[in-house]
Amino acid sequence: DWTPQSFVEESVDTLKETLGNDKVVLGLSGGVDSSVAAMLLHKAIGKNLYCIFVNNGLLRKDEYTSVLQQYEGMGLNVKGVDASARFLDALASISDPELKRKAIGRTFIEVFDDEAHAIKDVKWLAQGTIYPDVIESVSATGGPSATIKSHHNVGGLPDFMKLKVVEPLKALFKDEVRRVGKSMGMDPNILGRHPFPGPGLAIRILGDITPEKVRILQDVDAIFIENLKSWNLYDKVWQAGAILLPVHSVGVMGDERTYEKCVALRAVESTDGMTADWVNLPYEFLQKTSNQIINKVKGVNRVVYDISSKPPATIEWE
Ligand code: XMP
Repeated sequence: DWTPQSFVEESVDTLKETLGNDKVVLGLSGGVDSSVAAMLLHKAIGKNLYCIFVNNGLLRKDEYTSVLQQYEGMGLNVKGVDASARFLDALASISDPELKRKAIGRTFIEVFDDEAHAIKDVKWLAQGTIYPDVIESVSATGGPSATIKSHHNVGGLPDFMKLKVVEPLKALFKDEVRRVGKSMGMDPNILGRHPFPGPGLAIRILGDITPEKVRILQDVDAIFIENLKSWNLYDKVWQAGAILLPVHSVGVMGDERTYEKCVALRAVESTDGMTADWVNLPYEFLQKTSNQIINKVKGVNRVVYDISSKPPATIEWE
C-alpha cells in the first residue's frame, strides 16, 4: 500500500544511494512541486542540494522575499537571485504573448546557467516534474522546469541541461505530492498554493510591460488574493489572479473626471487546468474587493469579473 511515509522513506534511501556525495542543483519556483522535491532531496543529501530561487520581477507582491524566507526557514541551502531588472530589460517594449514567453525563458536559462556554473563540480539537475508533466506536454504547474522544457532553444543546450537529471516526484499526482509534503511537515501555505504560470504577471499585463504596470497589478492581485483568504474562499478556488487590461475608461473622482486603467479579476475551478469554470464568487465579496482596489490602487478606476469558461476561453488572457 502506498503511503506518503513509505514513499518518503524509500525515496530518501534511493536518492542517497544514487547521489552519494554528489552535488545537485535545483530551481525553486515557489510552487508546490519544486518545493516538495527540494524537501525530499534535502532529507536525503542535506547541504549537497543547492537550490536557486530566481526573482524575475513578475512574481506576486512581496513573494520573492517571503518565499525565500520560508525556504530558509525549512533549512534549505538556497540562494536567492534577484534578476528583476534583467528580465524587465529583456521584456522592454514586447507585446506579443509568445515573444514575452520566449524572452522570459531565455533570460531564465541565462541566469540559471550562471548560477549553476558557480557551484563547483555540480553533477545533477533536480526537477520537480510530476506524473502529469511526464504524460502530456501542457504543464499547469509552470515554474523553472516547465520553462526549461519549453524553451531549450537553437544554440544547443545550456550547460546545466547536460547534467544528469533526477526527478523524485516523477511517479506522483498532485494530490500525492501534497500528501508527501504534509508528511514531511511542510507548511500548508506552501502545499495549498494555487498554480502560478512561469512567466508570471508578464502574461497578465496585456500589451507591453513596464515597472509601473507591474506595481499596479501586484497591488490589485494582492488585495484580491488576501480577500479570498480572509473570506475562506482561497482553498475553494483552483486558481485566481488579476489581469491588467490595455484599456482606459472614464471615471469620476470628486468633481473630476478620470481616464484610468481597468483590471479584470479571474477565479476558476478546475482539476488539471485543461478545462475550467469561472467561480460563482459572492456579490458581497466582489463588491468589497472592487471598492478596495479602486480606492487603494492609484491608476485603476474600473474592475470587471471574468465569467468565461474554458473552453472556449482560456484561464490566462495571453
Ligand atoms: P490556459 O491559459 O492555457 O492555462 O488555460 C492553463 C494553465 O496553464 C498555466 N499557464 C502557464 N504556465 N507557463 C506556465 O508555466 C506558461 O506560459 C503558461 N501559460 C498558461 C495557467 O496559469 C493555467 O494554470
